[in-house]
Amino acid sequence: MFIQPDDRRRLLEAAKLAATRAYCPYSRFPVGAAALSGSGNVHAGCNVENASSGLTICAERNAMAQLVASGESPPRPVAVLVYTPTPTPTAPCGACRQVLHEFNPDCLVVLACDGPDAIETTLDRLLPAAFGPADRDRGRLA
Ligand code: THU
Repeated sequence: MFIQPDDRRRLLEAAKLAATRAYCPYSRFPVGAAALSGSGNVHAGCNVENASSGLTICAERNAMAQLVASGESPPRPVAVLVYTPTPTPTAPCGACRQVLHEFNPDCLVVLACDGPDAIETTLDRLLPAAFGPADRDRGRLA
């Protein structure tokens, strides 16, 4: 899978802007994410923390929710870029991997940072043998 340089630039710009809007008074760790839809639109999100810690929303899930809420049909991310203002890339947490998997198991994932080395991978590699919508349907009681 391949992402056009211009799309990658747009994703990076959107994710960086989103990171500046992060609500992270507890961790002081801002994260920005941007999801590219099949129709070429970019949807960004930042992490939104909560005093009760467990209710914190990660940037990737926020970006995915923005894509869905915008009315994209299908609500399918072709690529998601995660940006952290760190020297090395930051991997998405397990919960975010699972949420992205719901919408595109083959999604391209780009991990960008302030250092020179970005990582380009796929959700399939980040979350192999995942539980998905089909598994849920298979287990449904009659
Ligand atoms: N965070 C994300 O936004 N995405 C991830 O995939 C990992 C963690 C956020 C949650 C929290 O606000 C902060 O980073 C520190 O864990």
